Amino acid sequence: MTEASRRPLIIGSGIAGLYVALRTRELGLRPTIVTKGRLEESNTRYAQGGIAAAIGPGDSPARHLEDTVRAGAGLVDRAAARILTHEAPRRIADLVRYGVPFDTVEGRISLGREAAHSRARILHAGGDATGLTIEETLKHRVLDQGIEARERTVLRALRPGRDGLVAVLSHENGQGLEFETERPVVLATGGAGSLYRESSNPSIATGEGVAIAFRGGALVTDMEFIQFHPTVFARPGAPRFLITEALRGEGAVLRNAAGERFLVRAHPDAELAPRDVVARAIRQELDRSGAPAVYLDATALPPDQLYARFPTITRFLATYGLDPARDLIPVAPMAHFMIGGVTTDVEGRTTVPSLYACGEVACTGVHGANRLASNSLLEGLVFGERVARHLLQPAPGGPPPPEHLVELPLPTGAGRSEPASGFDEVRATLWNDVGIIREASGLRSALTTFEEIGRVTEPSSSKEVASPLANAALTASLIARSALLRTESRGAHFRSDRPRTLPSWRVHVGVVVRLSDKRPPGSLPTRVKRRRTSSH
Ligand code: SIN
Repeated sequence: MTEASRRPLIIGSGIAGLYVALRTRELGLRPTIVTKGRLEESNTRYAQGGIAAAIGPGDSPARHLEDTVRAGAGLVDRAAARILTHEAPRRIADLVRYGVPFDTVEGRISLGREAAHSRARILHAGGDATGLTIEETLKHRVLDQGIEARERTVLRALRPGRDGLVAVLSHENGQGLEFETERPVVLATGGAGSLYRESSNPSIATGEGVAIAFRGGALVTDMEFIQFHPTVFARPGAPRFLITEALRGEGAVLRNAAGERFLVRAHPDAELAPRDVVARAIRQELDRSGAPAVYLDATALPPDQLYARFPTITRFLATYGLDPARDLIPVAPMAHFMIGGVTTDVEGRTTVPSLYACGEVACTGVHGANRLASNSLLEGLVFGERVARHLLQPAPGGPPPPEHLVELPLPTGAGRSEPASGFDEVRATLWNDVGIIREASGLRSALTTFEEIGRVTEPSSSKEVASPLANAALTASLIARSALLRTESRGAHFRSDRPRTLPSWRVHVGVVVRLSDKRPPGSLPTRVKRRRTSSH
């Protein structure tokens, strides 16, 4: 191994980034974490429900696998999901070893239930503060280990180097280029939820890891699948705040403004139906009634149990004068999780040599078209471990091409400074036209909007780095373009003009840059390849 290859650069400090840093250090490498905020600021911090693993009596990784495959609406990569579910118990043991204090009952880790899981298999910590507890524990381990961490530092670009990959980084949100470094890069930058006007994610979740990897030549897959969380606190003027699915797992129900449990009409499992079904049924109910929210009703749960199991939510609601044991909680579905992302194999290798990805930014295929609740923190750990091991013994290889491949020119534009309203326009357009319910004309218009922003803000040459807005518009355009291409409805992707699920679309849509292309920026691809999958 060269000295540079022993010093991986890990971009992002959620569960995936922190875990890869810890494991690579234990394996004898010298990682550096680069993170655009503070070390502890990440989407992981806001995960309430927990982390899934088949560790309880009567459960097994095989059952967890079957639930994952069933929720994924025909698109789960079974081999990757097998790894996810079967390696889960070992990764939980790692978290326990690092000191994560999972909640217990009579000395045993207590397990909750969430939608579409056939068993109680969700571990939690601090009640509904699971992500926060994991993030803080791993952060302290990283600091104890003396792992180098560069906060307020942003990845701006990835370029081919003499021997590997060059990462272009800058401090403080891109004010002044600071340095370039040629080392293996692990993208753990998380998702793109906050590109949507209504989202459960913190503002840092802007999906730029996808845009930067895409510009660097990486294949990006399944971008049309954005998961919407059914129950985010929805009171006008209040911050968006996740109201965990675990509440429904404990018995809370959803009611419309007339007090009816409308979900019993949508699915036999009602409130515990897969997340895409619940989110869509709520959206339809809101569109029908014109109301701004539906209501989560936890008033039948024993108050002491409710307060003890959900202290974060109880505290949050109290600031709005609500008591979950007595009051209905106004909620609405909002963008939550990016199911697609930078395509990787099960070792975390992307299609670009020396570039790895894991966690939400990556697309291994484990979630198919609809992620099973509490499989996301798990994904960061399981594939983070594989990335760490692979960094120790790198070997060439990577993911195979998707069945449906689109090649696009490298975007270029006028390189002009950002229109102040640009981010708001991206957010509103994604929410209005590429949201829970989509149709072709809205998707086309959204794509035009994102490409127009790109024509103004994209750099005029590949030597310049792209601005945050150019990255946001590019990621948004990948979502809209993939949604337009998929002329069916499946999992989290629902098109009112194509409501059926079609066997011929049991394929993945991948998008990649054609570096030599001379066509004008923003024009549609000339080549769309379609092949049938054999892996399902
Ligand atoms: C939740 O607590 O409802 C969110 C967990 C997840 O998205 O997996």
